[in-house]
Amino acid sequence: MKEKRDEWASRFGFLMAAAGSAIGLGNIWRFPYITGKFGGAAFVAFYLLVGLTFGLSITIAEWAIGRAGRSDSVGSFKKLGGNLWSIVGWFGFISAFVILSYYSVISGWIVYYIKFCLQNLFHADRLSTSDAVFTTLITSPKLCITFHLINMALVVAVTIKGVSQGIERICKVLMPSLFAILLILVVRSLTLEGAMEGVKFYLVPNFHNLGTEGMLAATGQSFYSLSLAMGISITYGSYLKREEKIPHLAPTVVFFDTLVAFLAGLVIFPACFATGIVPGTGPGLAFVTLPRVFAQMPFGGVFATAFFVLFYIAAITSAIALFEVVVAYGIDQLKLNRRTSALVMGFLIFALGVPSATAEAPSAPRIFGKGFLDAADFVINNWFIPVTAIFICIFVGWVWNKGAKDEITNGGAAPFKLYPVWLFICRFVAPVILAILLVNGGKW
Ligand code: PHE
Repeated sequence: MKEKRDEWASRFGFLMAAAGSAIGLGNIWRFPYITGKFGGAAFVAFYLLVGLTFGLSITIAEWAIGRAGRSDSVGSFKKLGGNLWSIVGWFGFISAFVILSYYSVISGWIVYYIKFCLQNLFHADRLSTSDAVFTTLITSPKLCITFHLINMALVVAVTIKGVSQGIERICKVLMPSLFAILLILVVRSLTLEGAMEGVKFYLVPNFHNLGTEGMLAATGQSFYSLSLAMGISITYGSYLKREEKIPHLAPTVVFFDTLVAFLAGLVIFPACFATGIVPGTGPGLAFVTLPRVFAQMPFGGVFATAFFVLFYIAAITSAIALFEVVVAYGIDQLKLNRRTSALVMGFLIFALGVPSATAEAPSAPRIFGKGFLDAADFVINNWFIPVTAIFICIFVGWVWNKGAKDEITNGGAAPFKLYPVWLFICRFVAPVILAILLVNGGKW
């Protein structure tokens, strides 16, 4: 007998899982930096505007596709649009597969850092060696592969238990924990002497600095941050109960995603300014700069550990979401049971991650000047994702628009007043913005 398809057991659980999929590394190591660079509060205001129009509309579109299709990203497109459209679902599947292979490597680095911080819980000064620690880590294939494996094993273990019993249950615990740790760190950071300089740098509005470049950065970040166009929202939407009102739930996810990113900045800038260390972005910020900042605080080892636990929660809940896209494909398309799908896919993704795990080793090959991890990241983020998103917009805006309206309004039972605005964004605004992003970011 065919197993019944799993569903989210509660609305709260779904929201936590969806927020978990959105809140990831980018919220913490990227958003604060671009905010500081492009005009502080002016950037935050613009970012919120983009999130609540463009980001929100595509989130709604993807949830609707998933819930109507009641299948993985490939199956949902196939069911609603036929074989040709299922290619768009394929793009989502491939993106999730590839992204997870290196996302897991980076998540593994965080596990390694949790271990490093725990070992120095009461010797914060030793955290100032983070530069050497990080170099040792990323140039060691053995360490990177081991921690990548540990991380994949955890992701597989959660996903094997299913949507409501695995993913939902763990996200219901992890996401509130993330929020609590974040608040503690915000308070710690803001009460350091000299913290206000950091707040000023971060938030004093400067509309002049925003400019076109800032606006493009905000749009790209919003899109990436909401984990759109990689099958996640379609897959998570496919487990959503029929009676839930999609347009009512989506703003909560956008809001929490932005809030966490915003608060991360209130941890990073005040702490960096108070200790006189120049903040940056990306891996350098998280793995080299911040440990040095913590090294200068009383109980810095404890706060550093808290930070990396928070960082890991952000990473693993996104990794789980990416993995569910792939596992759902195995279940819905290949007709595997969940256990087999998770084990087989987990192994394949682990294997694909090995070149990323060894990308910084001294003899690693380079692809047109980029390391494997950077090359994979570039192709997916700058080419695959914008193209997929354009087709998602065309699909819900022009091809399957009657079906989409039906799904979003629960067959008319839950009227959605802003429907015309949503349709206008999907039909005209979003494809144009996405095309600009594609052209702008597409150069190797
Ligand atoms: N949304 C995540 C972030 O902001 C990034 C992410 C992208 C996660 C793709 C999963 C998949 O960091």
